[in-house]
This record gives sequence, C-alpha cells and structure tokens, in this order.
Amino acid sequence: MRYVNKKDLKPGMILANNIYDNHEQILLKGNTSLTQSYIDRIIKLGYDGLYIFDEGDVVKANQLISDETRIAAINKLKKLDIDACLFLANKIVNEVQASESLIIETINLCSYDNYTYVHSVNVDLLSVIIGIGMGLKNAELEKLSQAALLHDIGKCDVPIEILNKPAKLTREEYEEIKRHPEYGLRRLREKEKDGDEIPSVIKSAVYSHHENWDGSGYPRGITGRNIHRFARIIHVADVYDALTGKRSYKDAMNPADAMEYMMANSGIMFDIDVVNVFVQYVAPYPLGSNVLLSTGKQGVVYENNEKYLSRPKVKLTNGNIIDLYEKLDVTIIKILT
Ligand SMILES: [Fe+2]
Repeated sequence: MRYVNKKDLKPGMILANNIYDNHEQILLKGNTSLTQSYIDRIIKLGYDGLYIFDEGDVVKANQLISDETRIAAINKLKKLDIDACLFLANKIVNEVQASESLIIETINLCSYDNYTYVHSVNVDLLSVIIGIGMGLKNAELEKLSQAALLHDIGKCDVPIEILNKPAKLTREEYEEIKRHPEYGLRRLREKEKDGDEIPSVIKSAVYSHHENWDGSGYPRGITGRNIHRFARIIHVADVYDALTGKRSYKDAMNPADAMEYMMANSGIMFDIDVVNVFVQYVAPYPLGSNVLLSTGKQGVVYENNEKYLSRPKVKLTNGNIIDLYEKLDVTIIKILT
C-alpha cells in the first residue's frame, strides 16, 4: 500500500480502501481499478491523494474503527443528535480497545466538505488513544470520547459563511468563531432541559478545548492544570488533526511536520504529559508515505515500528527493504509528495 498524490494517479491503479463522497456514500470500493473518470471525480471532491495497492503488497494499515461507525458518527453530528453521539462515542471506545494496535499510521485522507464532522470523529479517535495511553479507566474514557466527539458542536451556531470563508477572517469574524466553545456549552445545557443530565466533565471539556497551557487560549485564558484534563487531551488531538487536514484556506501539513509543531508547542499551547503520550501513538511517517533517505535513495514506508515510530521499515525503489531501526546511520530527510 502506498500513498499516491492526486497528480500521480493513473488509470489501472488499484484502490486500497473505500472512498466516500461528501454525503458519506461509497463512491468507490477498495480493490476498484481506477479509470480516468474516477480520478477526475476524486480530484473534484478535493482529495489530495489516495492509497493504492501495488502488486505483491501485503501490508495493510490497521483500522481503529469501522467505516460504519465513522459514518454513523458523522451523520449523527450533522443532525445534531446528541443522544446518538453519546452512544456512538462509547462504541468508538469499544472498537478502539478491541483494535490490535493503537498506532495511527495512515494519512488523514479528506475531501473538502463536511470537515467539521470528519474532524470531530478524528479528534475523538485520537483523544481516546491518548486517554488509553494515559491509563484512563473505561468510565472516564467514555466521557472523554463523548466530549471529544461533541467538542465543536457549538460551531453549528456560527454562521456558515464565516466557518467556510476561504479568505482571511476579519477581527469580528474571528471573535465570532472563538465563541463556539460557549455555544457548545449552551447546546449541552439546552439538551439537559430534556431531563438528561450531561456529566459536568463533558461540559467542561467542550467549553475549554481551546485553552492553552500558558493561558493564551480562549474563552477564559486559564492555565495549566486549571484546564480540565480532558480539554488538554482534546486540544492536542484537535490541533494535530486540523494541521494535517486540508481546509478551503490551507493545504494539509504532513504528519512529521505537524508532530514537530506539537512538540515545539508543548508546555506553551499543550500539556507536556499529553504530548509525550501522543507521540507514542501517532506515526510521523504513515504507511505508504514516499520518503527521501539520507543516503539519497527514495522509498515507501512499508511497516512502522511500534516502539520507535520515527524509524520505520522502508521499501526502496529497487524492491529492497531497509529497517531504519537497525540502520541507525540512515535517516528520513523528508516526506515527498
Ligand atoms: Fe473547536
């Protein structure tokens, strides 16, 4: 399996996984052979690239949650069905716990639309993994997952023209976006009027997910451990997924660069303890990435080493596999697109 940039897609290439359109309908199934019209359609939807199977390929990325659960969560978020989201957040915890490996080792494939919802599911997944890594118990993990899935629910109260504006926001528009944690809290409180109490940790995490460790965040500008632990976890997951995702106003950053950003900002924006756990589970060089090695050779990331994610096995263009965990004098210089 390798990642192929949209400009290098060719008819006859075999898709490694299902591709969805902007209404979460399957556009193409895994194992489909691409035709030029499929490629045109995929590019039109805003995909930057896809995973392709090569002949003789055996390595497949682990999938932490099923497509079915992911799509159900996206649809329930779209409908603002908070009860269903709370239920699905628990399902996500169960699926992640049943997964063979907790390593996130794929590139965040995304199209333009629906990113708020797709992003919320990604943030949930990352938050649950960090929570497991931090040793949270099941009941806590479920609440963390619920808060993470609903963290941006307040965005539905921000005018869509501001949310989707492709140009730079005015000061007033930015101030409006910054109100979404407050709107999210308000949504949850309104929901409680139906008689179902929402645990205060969830409300607190949704309200505080943009607070920074050093007090430079919003809405309150609180610092350090005054910020709820769940909010500190969701903040890390949120920023990482936003950096590696594509938006109408920016390209996606590659995972290795995004990881550098996270580390550079730990103790400033982020809780160091959370970032330290995060880096143990997210591969900076996802499977299938095209990489340039310090030897000048190019290859594709073939397998990740769970204990040492920055040193994967790389399949060179001549077919040889080099294990960077053993060849310590060779490093990855950059991810090629
Ligand atoms: Fe947010």
